[in-house]
Amino acid sequence: MTAFTVCIPAAGSGTRMNSSTPKQYLPLLGRAVLLQTLDVFLGMKSCTRIVIATDDETTVHNLLGDMLSSGKITIVRGGARRQDSVEHALAAIHGDDDTVVLVHDAARPCVAVDDVRSVAETAALHGAAVLAVQARDTLKEVHGGTVERTLDRDVIWQAQTPQGARASLFRRAFVHAKEQGITATDDVSLIEAMGFPVHVVNGQHNNIKITNPEDIAIAETILRLQGRG
Ligand code: CTP
Ligand code: MG
Repeated sequence: MTAFTVCIPAAGSGTRMNSSTPKQYLPLLGRAVLLQTLDVFLGMKSCTRIVIATDDETTVHNLLGDMLSSGKITIVRGGARRQDSVEHALAAIHGDDDTVVLVHDAARPCVAVDDVRSVAETAALHGAAVLAVQARDTLKEVHGGTVERTLDRDVIWQAQTPQGARASLFRRAFVHAKEQGITATDDVSLIEAMGFPVHVVNGQHNNIKITNPEDIAIAETILRLQGRG
């Protein structure tokens, strides 16, 4: 069992969701998406600390209520980009450079506990890991409405979260990204940018990121199938 800290970026505005309430606070089977996501980690003994990045501390405080009394959860300020939110969360993790840190989107409540565990173990063993699934569809690079090229599906994977690394490696990667002016929509890209290998953990397609309005109903179905309904 690999002990880990999880950083949960939850400071997005959910533009693609088209909702005045950010998606992390929308109800999913009667509980806010963020709470459904937190349940996964609160239920894991190996998860020793949770850092949530938010731009709405009041809402998060109210949602969490008694859950905060455990002392396991820290709330930090989010940033303009997802990358900035994760950077703030990482800054709140003091001490042990060897601590395994996972980053997991607040908007991915359907992640399986076994997959979280595998990412933590792989990060501990190899230094960096990402949960991903092999592309089901053929992916095409399109410019101005025409296909530029077709990617070889056999080697195309879709990155999910959690993504993990030891705290020292994440810290180095974020410093490097700042120096080089790199912006990325996921975390291990910043490790890849240093030329460091990132190991892939085979995940599941049902670990969806709630992105568009129809995803709420899809996520509710997935949670029910997982017996979490
Ligand atoms: N996130 C964050 N800080 C930001 C942007 C995003 O913490 N400045 C978080 C989101 O809250 C979400 C996760 O990163 O849990 C994944 O991002 P994404 O799905 O892109 O969410 P949003 O940015 O909120 O949505 P959109 O891109 O549609 O605006
Ligand atoms: Mg976004």
